[in-house]
Amino acid sequence: MASQTDQSIISSISRMAIMLLWCASLLLVGWFPTAIEGITIKGQERDRQALLAIKSQIHDPFKVTSSWNNSLPFCQWKGITCGRRHRRVTTLDLSKQQLGGTLSPHVGNLSFLRFINLQDNNFESVIPPEIGRLSRLQTLRLSNNSFGGTIPANLSHCSNLAVFIAGRNNLEGNIPVEFGNLLKLEILQIPYNHLTGQLPTSLGNISTLQEIFLRENHLQGRLPDSLGLLKRLVRLLLGTNNFSDLIPPSLFNISSLESIELVKNLFHGNLPVNLSSNFPNLRQFNVGLNDLSGTLPESISNASKLERC
Ligand SMILES: *[C@@H]1O[C@H](CO)[C@@H](O)[C@H](O)[C@H]1NC(C)=O
Ligand SMILES: *[C@@H]1O[C@H](CO)[C@@H](O)[C@H](O)[C@H]1NC(C)=O
Ligand SMILES: *[C@@H]1O[C@H](CO)[C@@H](O)[C@H](O)[C@H]1NC(C)=O
Ligand SMILES: *[C@@H]1O[C@H](CO)[C@@H](O)[C@H](O)[C@H]1NC(C)=O
Ligand SMILES: *[C@@H]1O[C@H](CO)[C@@H](O)[C@H](O)[C@H]1NC(C)=O
Ligand SMILES: *[C@@H]1O[C@H](CO)[C@@H](O)[C@H](O)[C@H]1NC(C)=O
Ligand SMILES: *[C@@H]1O[C@H](CO)[C@@H](O)[C@H](O)[C@H]1NC(C)=O
Ligand SMILES: *[C@@H]1O[C@H](CO)[C@@H](O)[C@H](O)[C@H]1NC(C)=O
Repeated sequence: MASQTDQSIISSISRMAIMLLWCASLLLVGWFPTAIEGITIKGQERDRQALLAIKSQIHDPFKVTSSWNNSLPFCQWKGITCGRRHRRVTTLDLSKQQLGGTLSPHVGNLSFLRFINLQDNNFESVIPPEIGRLSRLQTLRLSNNSFGGTIPANLSHCSNLAVFIAGRNNLEGNIPVEFGNLLKLEILQIPYNHLTGQLPTSLGNISTLQEIFLRENHLQGRLPDSLGLLKRLVRLLLGTNNFSDLIPPSLFNISSLESIELVKNLFHGNLPVNLSSNFPNLRQFNVGLNDLSGTLPESISNASKLERC
């Protein structure tokens, strides 16, 4: 049993503790918003510096980025959109502005970026691997420029990437095996480049894929059987490459396909007889200029939505 003095000591200690907690909480309430504000301002300054670094590498004959100056908040610069709450850059859209030069690696510092569109310009040099640091990036549109070198495998770290469009450039080398880690990818468009090597088997792991568009490259070898796993694939456009061997039978299992274009390759073998029943949504089927033996199966003309053979 505790004596009366013990009890009063305990109660005064607990009163003191409550007082201390109360003071501490007051301090915290005062401190937190300032701290968060401080972090936000630091992030905004990082975005601004990154944008200025990007501007310094752009050749801009028509002064499209003249609004990228210190008299205007960067969220109001041409082609820039910021998030409403955090005021960090979420969109970089400078398509069709006759811009040249290179894309600065500092783009990898715009950590809130979700959408990049630099389509229809004259950007040269490589796609900076630092883009792989943009974990929120959903769309990367780079088509119709002069980007060269290999596609950086580091892009596979953009775990939210849904759209990768880079047709009409000078890209070479392989499609990175690591792209199989882009588990939200829906559109993969890299036509009209100089890509070589085989289509990676790992693509079969991307169950979200709806379109594979790789026309006019120098890709070769057998198509991976794993493509048959892509149950949402709508467009498979692989014309004018050097793909060879049999068309994998698993491909004829993808009933979602609407367009199949395999012209000008080195495929051989027979097409399955009941093609149309496998592809109820088929609209475009073009496999000409290969070494496919036999005639097109009669069933193909029965595919009700078929528009072009
Ligand atoms: C900064 O951008 C604004 C908006 O485009 C423009 O009116 C102004 O002339 C620019 N200032 C400089 C110094 O370029
Ligand atoms: C990114 O920001 C850091 C500091 O926040 C800076 O040191 C670096 O140079 C910037 N650019 C790149 C490409 O990392
Ligand atoms: C490529 O971009 C240029 C503008 O830079 C445009 O005139 C041309 O039509 C584009 N080409 C294609 C095939 O989209
Ligand atoms: C590649 O991506 C990782 C993960 O996002 C990042 O840590 C690294 O800095 C990137 N590499 C380059 C060269 O930017
Ligand atoms: C697909 O993913 C599984 C599970 O993560 C992995 O074990 C396998 O190696 C991947 N397949 C390919 C072809 O990358
Ligand atoms: C296919 O390979 C042949 C022989 O190596 C080559 O001449 C031809 O240009 C290649 N075609 C394509 C589209 O890569
Ligand atoms: C086609 O799909 C069925 C059912 O999922 C499966 O049993 C069969 O092995 C597949 N055929 C090929 C060639 O992948
Ligand atoms: C394809 O035809 C074969 C033989 O005529 C038949 O056994 C098979 O069920 C057909 N497959 C489909 C998907 O219609």
